[in-house]
Amino acid sequence: MKPIKLALFASGTGSNAEIIIRYFANNPSVEVVFVLSNKEEAPIVSKANSLGVSVTVCTNKEVEDASFLVHLCDSKEIDYIILAGFLRKIPNTLIAVYTEKIINIHPSLLPKYGGAGMYGKYVHEAVLAAKEHETGISIHYVSEEFDSGRIIAQYSVPLLSNETIETIQEKVHQLEHEHFAPTIAREILDM
Ligand code: GRF
Repeated sequence: MKPIKLALFASGTGSNAEIIIRYFANNPSVEVVFVLSNKEEAPIVSKANSLGVSVTVCTNKEVEDASFLVHLCDSKEIDYIILAGFLRKIPNTLIAVYTEKIINIHPSLLPKYGGAGMYGKYVHEAVLAAKEHETGISIHYVSEEFDSGRIIAQYSVPLLSNETIETIQEKVHQLEHEHFAPTIAREILDM
């Protein structure tokens, strides 16, 4: 059987992307075909290279160009696109071609703290300001509207009264590292 082919889109540190690459490395049913990054100097570029996964560095203009992305993913027979800290808007045409085939991870319990401008520390800042007793992660399909595609899975973590943005970020990152790759596996392999 042909493996299910993944493309990972990542702009930053890529700790999640790295875990996903390692998680599927010995699984013959899933192949991480390439990493796309819009930042040449992003740590994920050297990480992916050292793990033997090919990297495509693109410009921000190319990311806005749906035909570039559709052609890239089509030519490599990509089945699923995984957004692991990719900080650019995905063009609607790509979302239409890959309906329920683009999976994102968001660092809050959607629909809370989602939408335009809600990314990275801004999310944790808002969670802290609202004195939430818990936060978490949402793994969801990408639809045209920010952070509102069908939710695949959510995981939560309790918050104490003395949290800071940094401690919340750390807790959320741990949840991401634990759950993102296995959730993708369950979803795409129908486990
Ligand atoms: C994660 O916190 C994720 O929720 C968000 O971007 C961050 C990426 O972190 N979408 P890393 O680059 O995988 O460390």
